[in-house]
Amino acid sequence: MKIYITREIPGEGIKMLKDRGYKVEVNPEDRVLTKEEIINNAKGCDALLCLLTDTIDAAVMDALLPKVKIIANYAVGFNNIDIKAAAERKLPVSNAPGPEITESVAEQTFLLMLALAHRLVESDRFTRDGKYTGWGPSLLLGTDMHDKILGIIGLGAIGKALAQRAVKGFRMKVVYNDMKRDEAFESEYGAEFVSKEDLLKRSDFVSLHVPLLPTTKHLISTNEFNLMKPTAFLINTARGPIVDEKALLIALSEKKIAGAGLDVYECEPAIDCDLTDNLELRAMDNVILTPHTASATIEARGAMGVVAAKNIIAVLEGGEAPNAIK
Ligand code: GLV
Ligand code: GLV
Repeated sequence: MKIYITREIPGEGIKMLKDRGYKVEVNPEDRVLTKEEIINNAKGCDALLCLLTDTIDAAVMDALLPKVKIIANYAVGFNNIDIKAAAERKLPVSNAPGPEITESVAEQTFLLMLALAHRLVESDRFTRDGKYTGWGPSLLLGTDMHDKILGIIGLGAIGKALAQRAVKGFRMKVVYNDMKRDEAFESEYGAEFVSKEDLLKRSDFVSLHVPLLPTTKHLISTNEFNLMKPTAFLINTARGPIVDEKALLIALSEKKIAGAGLDVYECEPAIDCDLTDNLELRAMDNVILTPHTASATIEARGAMGVVAAKNIIAVLEGGEAPNAIK
């Protein structure tokens, strides 16, 4: 059995596959492959382990079928794969969720909230730049998090792990919106299920934890920013296109919201899709930008490889992928 992996990944995942006696081929270059390169390099593989930066569409599937038995995505998100095309071809696709990645993303989301509230990055730049010439009562005033309202849009594992930190660690109040209510969660965390509109109106921090789907693209756009408090922060560690980036730039420049913490971008890896309006995220002090690293811990990235490997092994041994996308 041959497994093709589109880029080197950390941890034990590759070793697990080799230990099964599979022939594992890893793209030797540390870069994103083109679609043509994936097709050429992966041809004849029994399983494809791909990354969120790889576009896996019908053309790639048709080039690898009928031999390929599973596409295992090294990510929780799966918007890079045409799930409908895979279903039509009865080709299983798996993602790579797990407790380690949940904790890692929740930690980095919380880190962005805390850093925005206490103006950490700005303060560091200010101090480094030699601007600290004396203590002042109003120097770099931030805001506390305790007693503030955190609005969570999308209450999956990551949204819940974030709520736990906010409520139990920082005594915040949580409101949430999701397709369905979770009453056990509500009673454990004193959380309140609210409409998206109410959430946007009431929250001091709004954090997004939905998958990117046609229905969640630009979930946060001009109307939503108009509902938010001018003191509120938006945090996005989910997927860039969930936020209408142009509307975000305008909301930030018009001070409709206080700031944003972003790990993902609409035209990633570009930080700004469109510079024709002369608005740039990177020029704004009230914005903290990270390069899609919310799951970049040794624990999370290692676990993702193990989960991807387990899905491949399950399918190649005649079973079902434990993390099959339905
Ligand atoms: C990271 O963005 C992931 O989806 O795993
Ligand atoms: C601040 O540094 C204080 O001592 O209150």
